[in-house]
Amino acid sequence: EKKLLPKEEGLDHSLSVLREGYLYITNRTIGFQSDIFETRLLGERAICMRGEEAAKLFYDNDKFERIGAAPKRVINTLFGEGGVQSLDGEEHHHRKNMFMSVMSTEALAQMRTITRKHWALAAQRWETMPKVQLYEEAQGLLCRAACEWAGVPLREGEAQEKAAWFGAMIEATAAIGIKHMKGKNARSKTEKWISDLVEQVRTGEIEAPEQSTLHTFAMHRDLKGELLDSQTVAVEIINILRPIVAIAIYICFTALAVIQQPEERKKLATAEEDYLQNFVQEVRRFYPFFPFLPARPIKDFTWQGYGFEKGVLTLLDLYGTNHHPDLWDNPEKFRPDRFRNWNGSPFNFIPQGGGDHYTGHRCAGEWITIEIMKESLDYLANKMEYDIPQQDLSFSFHEMPSLPHSRIVMINVKAV
Ligand code: HEM
Repeated sequence: EKKLLPKEEGLDHSLSVLREGYLYITNRTIGFQSDIFETRLLGERAICMRGEEAAKLFYDNDKFERIGAAPKRVINTLFGEGGVQSLDGEEHHHRKNMFMSVMSTEALAQMRTITRKHWALAAQRWETMPKVQLYEEAQGLLCRAACEWAGVPLREGEAQEKAAWFGAMIEATAAIGIKHMKGKNARSKTEKWISDLVEQVRTGEIEAPEQSTLHTFAMHRDLKGELLDSQTVAVEIINILRPIVAIAIYICFTALAVIQQPEERKKLATAEEDYLQNFVQEVRRFYPFFPFLPARPIKDFTWQGYGFEKGVLTLLDLYGTNHHPDLWDNPEKFRPDRFRNWNGSPFNFIPQGGGDHYTGHRCAGEWITIEIMKESLDYLANKMEYDIPQQDLSFSFHEMPSLPHSRIVMINVKAV
């Protein structure tokens, strides 16, 4: 029997999305008492949903595709043209394997070591500074680590400038006006920088380590056995570097949790891997980062009695799923220990997407994010002393991406 979707009336609710941000879908699922509803966004009909069952549906490759799902403004700034995010089927699977091939256990361990080195250097630098703004400093630190790991040459004098380019792309996601233009501009400069490097690797002018991202992507062959054009390779290498720099956002939220949860911080004193892991998982569950994801049905089908029509914009609520009261006990409490008994489902904890990393669109960088965050947490909780002066540590649910407003200011930093 076909059911009618609960429906938000009105011509368009894009402004409500901007106003309510991460909570837009959650707010309505509470009102409708339904994890799925219909509305209108960006001038078209849209279905919004949250929860584990909704995530299972969303990641069913026989039912949904990504092509034409992401808004143009997101492609122009955040993603780039022709990247893995908007591919489907065989082409996606083949390209995704290229990404996953640089995420071996050894490569992850290597990133952890590189991250540790750059934290140690940063902590020394910060000792001499009267005041440190963690967000900007973490972007610089991560930019250095990302380039080193990916085999991208970066002179010390360039790090902060390049970090700012990545930062502009990240902050342009939901922005309009100047911020959006800055993001577009940063993207074109970065694509030029990286595509030149790709050409140089191909002609042998510069050498990149065999297993590195720069080398692997520059030499990758598509399904027809051909090299990708250097522009597309640049887009994909930026799809590695940019989100590593974006981990600066998670580092700020990690610092916030360390500051606000002294009891939890104590448990980290032995730097035991399980405790670091659970704390980092809870940071990824608790704080807002990626709000929701778009896709479109490939065909008409019925799910739980509701009709989905081919092509209709469908949004999966990531934030709302990570805070769903049926899935998480006291979801609005920060409790790393909840991850001791987490069932490991690929569909209930989805800060970086759900489903399978290889066959679906789930974040290629999820494991490396966790490694970088664990190392950063060890520094923030155990390997540095610092004071947190009075500042505005609040963050907002309608700024995307969200970030503590003060961007975390630290004084009297001392490496220990
Ligand atoms: C995709 C979140 C870090 C590389 C995604 C998606 C989300 C996400 C939500 C979309 C999943 C989907 O479409 O189903 C995040 C967050 C990060 C992060 C919150 C924290 C900073 C990273 C890192 C890398 C990375 C560090 C690379 C080293 C990618 C790539 C995709 C992706 C390549 C596209 C995958 C595909 O379409 O198949 N990420 N990510 N991300 N992420 Fe991340």
